[in-house]
Amino acid sequence: MLNHQQTPSQTIVIVGAQWGDEGKGKIVDYYAERADLVVRFQGGNNAGHTLSIDGKTHVLHLIPSGVFHENTKCIIGSGVVVDPKVLIEEINNLTQWNADKFSLNKLKGRLFLSDRCHVILESHKILDAAREERQSKIGTTKRGIGPCYEDRASRKGIRLLDLKDKSRLAEKIEDHLKEKNFLFEHLYGLPQVSPEKLAAQYEEYGKILSPFIADTQHLLYEAKTNRKKILFEGAQGILLDVDYGTYPFVTSSRTLPHEASNGTGIRVSQDTVYVGVAKAYATRVGDGPFPTELIGEEGNQLREKGREFGATTGRPRRCGWLDLVALKYAVEVGGLDYLVLTKTDVLCGSSVVKACVSYEVSDTPLSSFPGDATLLSKITPTYRSFPGWESCHEPGSHGTIDRNLASYIQYIENFIGIPVCLSTYGPGRHENVERISVF
Ligand code: IMP
Repeated sequence: MLNHQQTPSQTIVIVGAQWGDEGKGKIVDYYAERADLVVRFQGGNNAGHTLSIDGKTHVLHLIPSGVFHENTKCIIGSGVVVDPKVLIEEINNLTQWNADKFSLNKLKGRLFLSDRCHVILESHKILDAAREERQSKIGTTKRGIGPCYEDRASRKGIRLLDLKDKSRLAEKIEDHLKEKNFLFEHLYGLPQVSPEKLAAQYEEYGKILSPFIADTQHLLYEAKTNRKKILFEGAQGILLDVDYGTYPFVTSSRTLPHEASNGTGIRVSQDTVYVGVAKAYATRVGDGPFPTELIGEEGNQLREKGREFGATTGRPRRCGWLDLVALKYAVEVGGLDYLVLTKTDVLCGSSVVKACVSYEVSDTPLSSFPGDATLLSKITPTYRSFPGWESCHEPGSHGTIDRNLASYIQYIENFIGIPVCLSTYGPGRHENVERISVF
């Protein structure tokens, strides 16, 4: 029997439970109303969190999705890789949209960037794109994420704190480009990048971002000590985790909720709830195995109805039925306590809805989600069919979920072993049914 009782927690970590694009932006915005701080802890501007606020659609790539709540502080933790150019554009877009709420002065007291964040350089983006075009193809977003995390691990990275020191920055960029320019010229046949120009460009970014750069580790520690409500916002999804995802078709960071500690420098409190977000169906963008993918007309219809086009790259997303085997694995490896089920409205009007309940390879059932992407690409999914729903609600009601949708949700809960705390039926801020108050 699943426990549907919960005392709202002081700390919540929200992560994607599929291959990203589960609709986390809207969910973070929903819970952020109750939070004192919203904190990003991994990934970079490969993420695109879409929010529909007062009839306008906003896409955030780096700024935490809590920014639309004026009393909430937003922190970009040290585990995030920051492209300063993109961040400055994002800040400018907010200021242009509403100069009162998002004036630079107001944002300066609300947005904090860890001085330890690694910086994505133009050369990282060139390398990411060159590898995609000329070497093994992962289908990356070409935002320089992988090359930046590589430099972090090889201890050659440039951090936000370096942008504030002109001579140190020039020295580090020169050193960085010795290796990269060699690859550009000799391996990829590309023009070299000028160290002087690159250093001057990033020095300028440093001047603009300087008022936002802070010791966020300590700021968070104090907030936690003072029992502030903290929301940690994950990017991508568990199945894109560099270790536990469908390697090598993954991103370069850890996308599991445990990373909230590493990517911010504080231990999350013991009463923290881990919440995974999944769509009522599945999508994937980029290459890699996708057992329940619908090819052809069925997939196209789902894509059009769900508006499944990448918020960062505009790429059409691959679409398919919900994969419960993969979702159960995500619950297990992510230690998830609750699930949020999004976009249930996209399946409205289908007479039958399907979900994958087991995998087989050459007629032999697989007992667990495989770590080998080649094996995963060969599996045959077994489906269970559910009667569809015409509307997400009982006629005339907005609080009661349609009976068939409720049975679908109950089946999911029983299969994955954790309760669904919230389900959503549209992009709008209020199109949600909260079933359990977790935060
Ligand atoms: P990268 O993170 O740009 O290196 O891309 C690696 C893989 O992760 C590719 O398949 C991308 O499509 C995927 N990916 C990265 N970020 C996101 C995201 O926010 N949503 C969905 N897929 C993503």
